[in-house]
Amino acid sequence: MQLSTRHLLGIKDLTAADISLILQTAEQFKEVLQRPVKKVPSLRDIVVVNLFFENSTRTRISFELAEKRLSADTVNFTASASSVSKGETLLDTVNNILSMKVDMVVMRHSASGAPHFLAKHIPAAIINAGDGINEHPTQGLLDALSIKEKLGGLEGKKVAIIGDIMHSRVAQSNIYLLKKMGAEVTVCGPPTLIPRHISEAFGINVSYDLKETLQWCDVANVLRIQLERQNQVLFSSLREYNLAYGISRKLLDGLHKEIVIMHPGPINRGVELDSDVADSKQSIILQQVENGVAVRMAVLYLLANRNN
Ligand code: CP
Repeated sequence: MQLSTRHLLGIKDLTAADISLILQTAEQFKEVLQRPVKKVPSLRDIVVVNLFFENSTRTRISFELAEKRLSADTVNFTASASSVSKGETLLDTVNNILSMKVDMVVMRHSASGAPHFLAKHIPAAIINAGDGINEHPTQGLLDALSIKEKLGGLEGKKVAIIGDIMHSRVAQSNIYLLKKMGAEVTVCGPPTLIPRHISEAFGINVSYDLKETLQWCDVANVLRIQLERQNQVLFSSLREYNLAYGISRKLLDGLHKEIVIMHPGPINRGVELDSDVADSKQSIILQQVENGVAVRMAVLYLLANRNN
């Protein structure tokens, strides 16, 4: 079996079979990562460049680790330390890097559609590591693997995505993936942070009532308030946001059932999620990060071994 696509630009472009193949392959790589020798030769002689035009901790480190575990040669690029700061364009930057014989490009960019633009102009396989407010496909995949491990599957599971839906590429990738895999999705947050018509566009539920949403769901995927992407005031204050939509221990205890708590990171502690919830047994936040390495190994492996 192989992926239906030669790039990973978004979950939107994947079939349910693609998603299952990536998750099954990631499960196999998780077994490799438990061994004393965690390295396999699958990507020997493949050169991968990690192009990060926007800050990252989890995604960047886990892509680098995944590449190293697969024995790929890796090159890291940080926009602030490059000739981009002298005015070089994205296409010139990438063409110069590709002339040094690079096979795959992992790219994070603040502009939605930047990896799609590159995929039209260069021959290397492109993996989107997060583009603006569009998609973060490997986050959607690692979230799916984490839910599958915790609840035994995705089909029929009730997943709430809570918070800043408007500016979240994580929300978009999660919604595409969960719908393709048969899960039920509710997005919940203040009306100003939920796009109009999202319910009809994606076939999901919308709720402005946090307690009702938590009572409904099996899993709450709590999103970061992305102050850096908001150019207008969309809620009155962080304090008021926390009072209306922050997940607290008291709120969870009042549900009389145990739901799974997820967060893609970085967490604004005390805003969308209280520390005693983030660090509790209900939280699988660090398992999500751990699963990121295996999922990214699976994506790199499947794209590199695809027959064109
Ligand atoms: N989840 C996520 O994308 O985190 P980073 O921004 O640290 O990569």
